[in-house]
Amino acid sequence: MSDSKNYDVLIIGSGGAGLSLALKLADHSVRVAVLSKFALTAGSTYYAQGGISAVFDADDSIESHIDDTLDAGAGLCDVDIVRLTVTHGKKSINWLREQGVAFTEEQTADGKKQLHLNREGGHSHRRIVHTADATGKAVSLSLIDRAREHSNIELFEHHNVVELITRPTSDKTSKRVVGAYVLDSKQQQVKTFTARVVVLATGGASKVYLYSTNPQSATGDGIALAWRAGCRVSNMEFMQFHPTCLYHPHAQSFLISEAVRGEGGKLILPDGSPFMQKFDSRAELAPRDIVARAIDHEIKKRGIDCVYLDISHKPESFIREHFPNIYETCLKYDIDITKQPIPVVPAAHYTCGGVLVDSYARTNINNLYAIGEVACTGLHGANRMASNSLLECLVFAERASEDILQTLDTITPVPAIADWDESQVSDSDEEVVVSHNWDELRRFMWDYVGIVRTDKRLDRAMNRVDLLKKEIAEYYGHFRVTSDLLELRNLVIVAELIIRCAKQRKESRGLHYTLDYPETDDSQPAQNTILTP
Ligand code: FAD
Ligand code: SIN
Repeated sequence: MSDSKNYDVLIIGSGGAGLSLALKLADHSVRVAVLSKFALTAGSTYYAQGGISAVFDADDSIESHIDDTLDAGAGLCDVDIVRLTVTHGKKSINWLREQGVAFTEEQTADGKKQLHLNREGGHSHRRIVHTADATGKAVSLSLIDRAREHSNIELFEHHNVVELITRPTSDKTSKRVVGAYVLDSKQQQVKTFTARVVVLATGGASKVYLYSTNPQSATGDGIALAWRAGCRVSNMEFMQFHPTCLYHPHAQSFLISEAVRGEGGKLILPDGSPFMQKFDSRAELAPRDIVARAIDHEIKKRGIDCVYLDISHKPESFIREHFPNIYETCLKYDIDITKQPIPVVPAAHYTCGGVLVDSYARTNINNLYAIGEVACTGLHGANRMASNSLLECLVFAERASEDILQTLDTITPVPAIADWDESQVSDSDEEVVVSHNWDELRRFMWDYVGIVRTDKRLDRAMNRVDLLKKEIAEYYGHFRVTSDLLELRNLVIVAELIIRCAKQRKESRGLHYTLDYPETDDSQPAQNTILTP
């Protein structure tokens, strides 16, 4: 039985990027469907802690925010995109406030209220707008509430995209996207969604690593879907490792925000001695690549399990007021951060590369856009600066909406699309293949393609990817799709793209550090790594 749905715009992803775009379009009478493969709060947005960078302080300036972003990006940011993004900071924050997001405020000397601004690594000023230490939750819940109320938006939870559907353009010179096949994982049925415009807002791919700060959803689906459809992908070697993830056997993926270091938290060794000054004069407030590599170095050199982040010198009331979420979560694991240091390790956190887009978030496939962490806009270069990601989600949602609103009426209706064909497949009798391959993939990516790389390690990882790809393709060809299988099939492509990009870069730059080429090649202008299917 055919189960086909048609919209003006299909947005894949209900994080900060996807929902912002949905609201901006729906306010102009565009009919939008938003899909999330799990609950609406499943993406990284909900878990964001530190906040959103924007210039509000009188002593700060757009130029300073631009300079800090370029500096963190290690010579690879697109200066025009950085300027475009940073100049939209204030407007984006004000838009979020209009949607009901309550940011933390403070009182000025003359009794007025103003936004309280945090400081984080790489930023030379206080410029992080936040809601205590759970900014993402405040943003996510407000946007979801607004989207639920909107009559032009239909929200679909537990709808996992299997494949994008493309067709040749009328002049046959390129492709246009016309929709997607989507697994309704509650009903175990693949449905057809068609739309004149499709937007990938699927988030990042950090779950390709064994240890990650990211939620389950971050399996790089959008990057793999776009790649299979024919999109160019860029800079996948720049996977960001956050320096401070809680180290505890029962705490999965809990982040200790960079704002803790911004408020004076010190990184120390098990004997209590500080070590960051040895690596960078900015010490704890150096950009993330430097801090994560320093911690990795100390852990490996000394054979220790973790280092410690100590904020206990601050008054208890200050800690509990600024970091209520971190305080409560650590306490559950018997760590009282007002009295003792927090055990921390680096973990995969953010995908700087992704689907290559222009300044309106357009991919190289007609009518297909990519926004948020799935995209590579040129903002982050070789290393994203803290709290620039949510800003990018908001700014590129705005840019995409401008372009879509201008072009939607000129796009011809989509042709009839055949239903998903399941006649040749059966239910799997060996789910263990999927779980085994998941574990294997994430472990060798951690061991061979992590914070410190070598050519040999990358070759080893690529050999394993080749084997897994064959096994997964055979499995996919024979068995009915499940969410786990779809994610694994995407993760192996993401792993391949990361390794291919890493192998192409014969230097160390930003987040890509290799013992075989430890220096940055400054003999020529820095180049993006662009892969074409
Ligand atoms: P996400 O919020 O990740 O949403 C992705 C959506 O896509 C989800 O709805 C998911 O269900 C859906 N999806 C994925 N695949 C499919 C599929 N196949 N089919 C259907 N739906 C799919 N950045 C900052 O700027 N400031 C911070 O303070 C900050 N803190 C962070 C803290 C943590 C713990 C983490 C993990 C990240 C943090 N980041 C922060 C990064 C930032 O949160 C993310 O980069 C950003 O939220 C990504 O938003 P997004 O909308 O692109 O994707
Ligand atoms: C954090 O709060 O440390 C995360 C900030 C970010 O990833 O931008």
